[in-house]
Amino acid sequence: MSDTIWDTLRGQHDALNGRRILEMFAADPRRAARFSATADDMRLDYSKTLIGDAERAALVALCDAVGLADRRAAMFAGDRINETEHRAVLHTALRNPEGGPVMLDGADVMPGVCDTLARMGAFCDAVRNGTRTGAGGAITDVVNIGIGGSDLGPAMAVQALAPCHDGPRCHFVSNVDGAQIHDVLDGLDATRTLVIVASKTFTTIETMTNARTARDWMEAGGGDPAQQMAALSSATDRTADFGIDPQAVFGFEDWVGGRYSVWGPIGLSLMLAIGPGGFAEFLRGGRAMDTHFCQAPWAGNLPVLLALVGIWHHQVCGYPTRAVLPYDQRLARLPAYLQQLEMESNGKSVAMDGSRLAVPSGPVVWGEPGTNGQHAFYQLLHQGTGVVPCEFMIAARGHEPALDHHHRLLIANCLAQSEALMRGRSLDEARDRMAAAGLEGAELERQARHRVFEGNRPSVTIAYPRLTPFVLGQLIVLYEHRVFVEGVILGINSFDQWGVELGKELATSLGPVVDGTQSAGTRDASTAALVDFLRAHR
Ligand code: F6P
Repeated sequence: MSDTIWDTLRGQHDALNGRRILEMFAADPRRAARFSATADDMRLDYSKTLIGDAERAALVALCDAVGLADRRAAMFAGDRINETEHRAVLHTALRNPEGGPVMLDGADVMPGVCDTLARMGAFCDAVRNGTRTGAGGAITDVVNIGIGGSDLGPAMAVQALAPCHDGPRCHFVSNVDGAQIHDVLDGLDATRTLVIVASKTFTTIETMTNARTARDWMEAGGGDPAQQMAALSSATDRTADFGIDPQAVFGFEDWVGGRYSVWGPIGLSLMLAIGPGGFAEFLRGGRAMDTHFCQAPWAGNLPVLLALVGIWHHQVCGYPTRAVLPYDQRLARLPAYLQQLEMESNGKSVAMDGSRLAVPSGPVVWGEPGTNGQHAFYQLLHQGTGVVPCEFMIAARGHEPALDHHHRLLIANCLAQSEALMRGRSLDEARDRMAAAGLEGAELERQARHRVFEGNRPSVTIAYPRLTPFVLGQLIVLYEHRVFVEGVILGINSFDQWGVELGKELATSLGPVVDGTQSAGTRDASTAALVDFLRAHR
């Protein structure tokens, strides 16, 4: 069934035959409304794409052909849909503290979730109101040490919600490169800093190396690790071995994947920054998008539509990458966050049943906030030979009322870019401009060609009232479920990440070679030569 739909979609793509997005608007005065959808106050506009009624119908048919409703129900019901790790996928329960029971193997997981959330809240209150202090007084700074899902979510969210900060300053260390922890700890007071070790497994080499360095720094600086270290992990035996006070350990279960973990203990730094009330709003926003995802029909369902547009552009049209372009400086880390969410989830070439994928896996995701990107890589977006579908994000209002003129310019730039990508500029229009500038003859012709924009380049725009904790929650869940839907359509297990293992194993075995305690003899010639070069220059 789905094979036929893929054939239909490929046929539709082949038949586009020079179709222009602008002509689709001309032919359908209601196109903007008919190819937009809303969830609460969030609007997704995908009308600036070449998707018409027929293409949308075929894409939506894919959802039924792959049994999306059943897969969605299975995820929310706690079935072990992460089949290669035999795990349930229930991060949705973390944002359900105000909802009903969530059953796993016959037991409700919600009492445990709510208990941990309450403990996090009490811990944050104590740190924020100065009841839980460091050796030198109230906590002024928090350093979250973690990597991947134990870093990107809270780091992105803490930056995104800066206007809501009323707690200690939060810093993030992820890289094993000593430069990062050196620069972060430099200037902090070891007696008034809280160090959070965030690691689901509590074995990740980067995190454990940084955690030991931070503990040494704290001890050397007169701080008290027993009071000033916390851990966020599923491995409470290992946090105890590390010497972290059990009262400051917040656990979560194996049904929370790393890249889906910001909603629970891994979000502790965010809760410290914005308070338990703000964190509850963040959860509510996420929950609202869960509800929308579960209830809205496919053709009005934001995560589903975003996924289908992604499938159209990557798997059907063959565009290899996708740009995420938040016109929201505080979402500067969102592209990096989405790189893990999307590429670790759907960057796979084997289907759930072990067979080779019949269609390409997920695309490369990249991006930067606008307007900065406009003065860097947008040249390629507009005039490069390849097409890069773009995802713009823009708020109606900023958080700086006195600087509203900045925000109006930001909106104008965001809308101008999607318009320019679609509209383009023809050779005739470019010639007119050159003639108006006084050029003529061969020089006019030559110069005009450099000023042509092919246009017809697709984009979607996600618009929202203002970047609040609620809206950030909605936005993240929009993307989480988009990834889920794409994974179901592709037949991928979006919840494992075996692709990161080989590099970890080789790094471990290379350690003694770099140290010089083992020879590079059995490595490939390139690796051995690079080890020699680097050792010679140490
Ligand atoms: O990179 C692989 C990975 O397992 C990610 O999925 C995860 O978010 C990250 O490492 C960190 O893992 P942990 O939280 O166990 O330290």
